Amino acid sequence: MADLPTGFWSGWIIVLTCVSLATLVWVVFSIYFSSGANEHPDAEPVWDTDLREGSNAPPLWWFWMLLSALVFSLIYLMLYPGLGSYKGLLNWSHGKRIVESYETYDTTFQDIRAGIASMDIAEVQNDLDLMQAAERIFTRECSACHGPDARGQASLFPNLVDIDWQWGSSAEQIEQTIRGGRVANMLAWQSILGDDNVNQVANYVADMEGGAAANHPGQAVYQQNCAACHGVGGMGNPLLGAPNLADNIWLYGGDLETITASIATGRGGVMPAFGKRLDDAQINLLVAMLAR
Ligand code: HEC
Ligand code: HEC
Repeated sequence: MADLPTGFWSGWIIVLTCVSLATLVWVVFSIYFSSGANEHPDAEPVWDTDLREGSNAPPLWWFWMLLSALVFSLIYLMLYPGLGSYKGLLNWSHGKRIVESYETYDTTFQDIRAGIASMDIAEVQNDLDLMQAAERIFTRECSACHGPDARGQASLFPNLVDIDWQWGSSAEQIEQTIRGGRVANMLAWQSILGDDNVNQVANYVADMEGGAAANHPGQAVYQQNCAACHGVGGMGNPLLGAPNLADNIWLYGGDLETITASIATGRGGVMPAFGKRLDDAQINLLVAMLAR
């Protein structure tokens, strides 16, 4: 449709518009100034013996109203786009209007945004208005996955208000998570270790919280295959996004069955990158909201 009002169609629209306007002018003038009006009062139809239909001319102020509407239309069509592809003398367009309002918006809020982007996290956290703004951004951009209260959901999207951080809890690490996204990667161990080993190491991991006993049958498998990422004591490694397995906070679930499934089939959670979607001020607000 964008290229419709060019060439033939543009001319067609111009002709239609002009003909309709001219017809309107003709109708108005013929009503008020035709010579036949009001000349034969006797020819008026009479209904029900004494109801005369009448043919008084409409009041003259109607004429002036219609005339000014017509003049307005002509001036409008000269100034603004309306006749085919003719752009109008003012060269007005929706696109230009939007660009202009973006520019006004940018110049109005640029300084404020730059200010927020360079603010200290603690400073932002102490400003109630800014924290409310952060929550609005979170609701709009993040809550679909992390839940409206950021407590996570569906055993797929992590809780962001607990003390357990897969990718690190510092402001810098959280900022990196939001800007660049994160792709977690844990292999499916079923085919590598076999059922028995998977079951044993799953048991070992499930017992870790209480400080798994030494000489646990799964310990050797764990130290050999898992400790490189999850740490000897199971404390995790934020550089790899390997979660702490020794606390009682689980992303996918801490019952033996789910732990076994995590190990057997692997996990690959993806946090999308927001570095392009959000500006520096918005990211700083979110970091301030999530960092402790
Ligand atoms: C290459 C590094 C790496 C190795 C090796 C590795 N993991 Fe993981 N593991 C991860 C990552 C990364 C995640 C997070 C996956 C996600 O968030 O989707 C994870 C997640 C898990 C989870 C789920 C935790 C939760 O909160 O639900 C369990 C259980 C687990 N690993 C156990 C093991 C066991 C047992 C081994 C050894 C057999 C092992 N991992 C080896 C990197 C690794
Ligand atoms: C499409 C769903 C989705 C959206 C939208 C989303 N996230 Fe995530 N986010 C995830 C998943 C999945 C993970 C876990 C990745 C993994 O398994 O390691 C995650 C992880 C995180 C983490 C790391 C948590 C940790 O323990 O280290 C932070 C921080 C985070 N998200 C913040 C945000 C913020 C802020 C927003 C909004 C700007 C957001 N997320 C939007 C899916 C999402």
